[in-house]
Amino acid sequence: RRQARRLLCSAQLAAEQSSKLDIDWDSLGFGLQHVGATMFMASCSAADGKWSAGELQPYGPLPMYPSAQALNYGQAVFEGMKAQRSAKDRIVLFRPEANAERMAEGAARLSMCPPPKELFLEAVCKTVEANSDFVPPQGKGSLYLRPLLLGSGPILGLGPAPSYTLVVYCASVGSYFKGGQLTPIDLIVETRFHRSAPGGMGGTKCAGNYSPVLVTQLAAKKEGYSDVVYLDAKTDTYLEEVSSCNIFVVKGKTIRTPPLQGTILPGVTRRSIIELARSRGYTVEEVPVSVDEAMQADEIFTTGTAVVVSPVGSLTYQGERRQFGEPGQPGPVALELYDQLTGLQQEKLADPFGWVHPV
Ligand code: COI
Repeated sequence: RRQARRLLCSAQLAAEQSSKLDIDWDSLGFGLQHVGATMFMASCSAADGKWSAGELQPYGPLPMYPSAQALNYGQAVFEGMKAQRSAKDRIVLFRPEANAERMAEGAARLSMCPPPKELFLEAVCKTVEANSDFVPPQGKGSLYLRPLLLGSGPILGLGPAPSYTLVVYCASVGSYFKGGQLTPIDLIVETRFHRSAPGGMGGTKCAGNYSPVLVTQLAAKKEGYSDVVYLDAKTDTYLEEVSSCNIFVVKGKTIRTPPLQGTILPGVTRRSIIELARSRGYTVEEVPVSVDEAMQADEIFTTGTAVVVSPVGSLTYQGERRQFGEPGQPGPVALELYDQLTGLQQEKLADPFGWVHPV
């Protein structure tokens, strides 16, 4: 009876939280169906590098010339973050300073004016507060935040933009991949194209890294795969990452993931999973992982802000398909780390790392 009462209470809470907006919290996907009504915007002139205080405004089109640097030459970096309603009945972010730092690193790589960390954090927190009705009830999903830094000023000859815009917009989201959060995904190893090369842009979260993968991703989806894994451009031997997330390979109590050498994205979830897994007794190695080793693994999973921890059900390489575990069932390590990470992010579990940031 106590269980029934608890279920009733959480159903009432969910109903109260969702009463202001007409959103079916049980059928959230990953899209703009429930985009937040308010966005934050600040600007900076490259002449002095000083940022405006910024302000909230209704979500809508950006005023930009067709000659905007970002539209012509691609000065654009972004972040992905999530705000969640926690078990402590408050809204929390996860390691937002790490996103602020990564955006500043990306800005430096693309010769852009970086927003100061304080402005980035204020922009994100104000966006969450203004859109708090869009934060799903606890456990139903999250408010995905997209901080975007653009070289928005006009320029014709190749050079950095004369001015920059920081925008943060958001949307209520659920699971990234079809089938729900812990449904295993089917990956195929890409053997024609590479995502990045040594000395290139693979380690930068810039807009330009995401469209070149579409040609392979869309072809793979047509064949029934969820996404594509890329190999290193130098030897075609080692795993790099999936189009939208990092990758981990499990054998016994050892977990391996490709090292950060500038060709893969330094994921905040990647970093967190490495620390979490080590704290739970796993040996985690950041070393090159060959595709042959991956085909022999006990288990594979991917990580990212959008995908969280996604178990891999199968990996296909040069026509050979390897199934991991029971079809439809997440592997035990992915499940354990998913539970730990989301438990911590939703304040259902203690946070010994100090990663949770109340808004
Ligand atoms: C994220 O995981 O937040 C990303 O930015 C990846 C994107 C393809 C959704």
